[in-house]
Amino acid sequence: MQSSVKHKLLEAFSEADGEFVSGQALAEIVGCSRTAVWKHIESLRSEGFELEAVRKKGYRIIAAPDKVTENEIMIGLHTERLGKRIVFKDSTDSTQKEAHRLAQEDFKEGTVVIAEEQTAGRGRMTRTWHSPKYTGIWMSVILKPQLPPYKAPQFTLITAVAIVEAIIEVTGMTPEIKWPNDILMNGKKITGILTELQADADQIHSIIIGIGMNVNQPEFPEELKDIATSLAIETGNKVSRARLIQELLKNIERYYDIYIEEGFSEIKKRWETYAISIGKQITARTVQATIEGKALGITEEGVLKLLDKEGTIHDIYSADIEVNN
Ligand code: BTN
Repeated sequence: MQSSVKHKLLEAFSEADGEFVSGQALAEIVGCSRTAVWKHIESLRSEGFELEAVRKKGYRIIAAPDKVTENEIMIGLHTERLGKRIVFKDSTDSTQKEAHRLAQEDFKEGTVVIAEEQTAGRGRMTRTWHSPKYTGIWMSVILKPQLPPYKAPQFTLITAVAIVEAIIEVTGMTPEIKWPNDILMNGKKITGILTELQADADQIHSIIIGIGMNVNQPEFPEELKDIATSLAIETGNKVSRARLIQELLKNIERYYDIYIEEGFSEIKKRWETYAISIGKQITARTVQATIEGKALGITEEGVLKLLDKEGTIHDIYSADIEVNN
């Protein structure tokens, strides 16, 4: 009950966009007395929210703490569907696992699972994902598009474009995409995407998009320091995780809607401008083989086209790639 009052207060502050909201208006919105509103404001302050109170004007929000609970994400979240339901965990084994469970329990499209820490974060191809507490964005988004399963890889590319543009918006720096699921800065990994499905042969039931973003880690363990980096290391500044999550959700929703209404071409165009591998000599290691050649581009289905030196064009559905110099 208490948290739903605070939730409503934060929603009202979010709508007010930094302007004052009178104590009377807040009391009416949450359906309690002005004294009760004041108590809830105090409680929000104790959680790290900066709220200004001015006589005859009311209250306004100055800043939210850099936490990633539902309350912090809600202030300034400009989406219609994504993130309207946030399941927050202080610690969990994997947000991906939790999101799979919720998708089966019929949680709505747009539900997002966010954790401060993952104890068994998963990467692609059964790798682990280092997810230390309070430093990164470890989240999984549930989508339920009415599409056949072969369209699912396109969601990795939609997400990659959404991530790149969120990072540009928040930090001013432009990262690069390494097909299919890595976002890099200065050649090191800043974000990974894990797209998983619940589907039958003809129809997707749910797509679970896992995003792991290294945000404020000051350093990495020995085994990762040559291949991974964080936004704080690259920009020299701490970055607001809540702000990044808001931008991410806004962008994913935007490109998801564009994709459903207009198809894949706008996303493909943007993806190719951010991709490092296109037009370059690369080595692609698939489960079956290692192929070297020139990356020609991606198809409408998100498949990588690779031209080898014999002139054969290969369709690469899943691989680890390395860009050769
Ligand atoms: C990769 O690059 O291999 C993909 C990494 C995906 C990591 C994220 S963190 C949130 C979500 N939960 C997980 O266990 N994995 C994904």
